[in-house]
Amino acid sequence: MVQLRLPKNSRMTVGRTWPAPAGARRPRSFRVYRWSPDDGRNPRVDTYVLDLEDCGPMVLDALIKIKDEVDPTLTFRRSCREGICGSCGMNIDGANGLACTTAIESVRGDVRIYPLPHMPVIKDLVPDLSHFFAQHASVRPWLETETPPPEREWRQSIEDRRALDGLYECILCACCSTACPSYWWNGDRYLGPAALLHAYRWIADTRDEATGERLDDLEDPFKLYRCHTIMNCAKTCPKGLNPAKAIMEIRRLMVERVV
Ligand code: SF4
Ligand code: SF4
Ligand code: FES
Repeated sequence: MVQLRLPKNSRMTVGRTWPAPAGARRPRSFRVYRWSPDDGRNPRVDTYVLDLEDCGPMVLDALIKIKDEVDPTLTFRRSCREGICGSCGMNIDGANGLACTTAIESVRGDVRIYPLPHMPVIKDLVPDLSHFFAQHASVRPWLETETPPPEREWRQSIEDRRALDGLYECILCACCSTACPSYWWNGDRYLGPAALLHAYRWIADTRDEATGERLDDLEDPFKLYRCHTIMNCAKTCPKGLNPAKAIMEIRRLMVERVV
């Protein structure tokens, strides 16, 4: 029978509220998902009220402030604070994005912060991305050649190099794959937009000599063909990339090689 409610131990509960500091001039509530594997309790939403007059402008600034000054148990990933490392992908106000490049002021009302959807949670805002990274590794994201290596670097024309624009910039934040309905339902076998964008990045690289094998590997009813062009991936990518277009290019090459 279809289960319409979450199992009892997954139902959200109301958590604790940390009030605004005394004399706060610009209070703002941050409603943050909390879950720990260590205490046997259900997930909950804690509310932290910060004074924005005394906080940096980005959602990541608020999380760091909470951890440093209010509640050191809050757990999240971050590294660069510049939109480069891909660590701080999370769901902010209902959309996936990077906490370090999302301005608090871009959210109306309370700032709701959850982990990336449809991934197992390790703790609080930290999803388990092991499977996501294994899928990335499965597309062999490196240059493969048979020709003996040149004395210096593998060279490319300016046009050939330009063909990689819109592909090489991916920071593997997982915002796209975890926004993709096909990946939610078939993520065990469908590679998802991020891994497929990387697959195409190497297929499109004129220096690579394994194009045929790469296409053979993707010729599978699930790995590639579960994309239904819903475009959530392109809509959500914080780097402005378009994984759906890369997926369509792979499909085009699949057709071209059999006609
Ligand atoms: S276009 Fe394809 S990969 Fe992108 S969100 Fe939709 S189904 Fe997923
Ligand atoms: S394509 Fe965009 S959203 Fe997807 S992993 Fe790369 S940077 Fe993140
Ligand atoms: S902290 Fe590196 S992308 Fe946000």
